[in-house]
Amino acid sequence: MNYISVAVDGPAGAGKSSVSKTVAKDLGYTYIDTGAMYRCVALFAIENGIDIKNDVPTLIAGLDGIKIDMRNTGDGQRVYLNGLDVSERIREEDVSVGASDVAVIPEVRVKLVDMQREMAKSANVIMDGRDICSHVLPDAQVKIFLTASIEARAKRRYDELCRKGIECDFEKIKSDIAYRDKNDSEREVSPLKKAEDAVLLDTTELCFDEVVEKIKELIINVV
Ligand code: DC
Repeated sequence: MNYISVAVDGPAGAGKSSVSKTVAKDLGYTYIDTGAMYRCVALFAIENGIDIKNDVPTLIAGLDGIKIDMRNTGDGQRVYLNGLDVSERIREEDVSVGASDVAVIPEVRVKLVDMQREMAKSANVIMDGRDICSHVLPDAQVKIFLTASIEARAKRRYDELCRKGIECDFEKIKSDIAYRDKNDSEREVSPLKKAEDAVLLDTTELCFDEVVEKIKELIINVV
């Protein structure tokens, strides 16, 4: 059986995961959040006192000890690191910045990309990340590059944290996003870049439902 793969790339805070999750639910696809996998590696480093930037060999030596499980629930996905549910912890700011730092390490990418390709072999998937269209699933039937201005992305993240009652600072969120944009797009291995054959969707002026509908249309056109 041939499965459908939908690849969604874009910078931090563009809304990739919330939009992809909704589209996956509506169409009965499996949602795969590859950023969560890089976040798990970062959390593993933080919990084991490994200095991500200055002690890469220790992190690489520890990679075989990292077991990541993504379990789909009715309305999304729970993420387990070595058997523990870390779904909320991996969203915290120290892990966000750490994830961008571990993502420049080629050995980390090879391990996670292998896992991601395996996952796409046995189901219709919507996979989001930074290198999905260009590298992980170059044969995906639908490819989308989702972006928005940095102001809009920082504002969405700020509003999301405020809604959850988490104290935060808008300028700090914006500068963290700018740091990750730079890191993700300037790294040597699989930098964040729109694939030539990906459809560009700028969501700065679009509401959530409009983005979901546009992506569903693109999928429905190919199936
Ligand atoms: O999508 P996210 O913000 O949860 O991703 C966290 C970090 O992981 C991000 O800064 C870049 C990295 N990442 C990556 O390099 N490649 C992917 N396919 C997914 C995420």
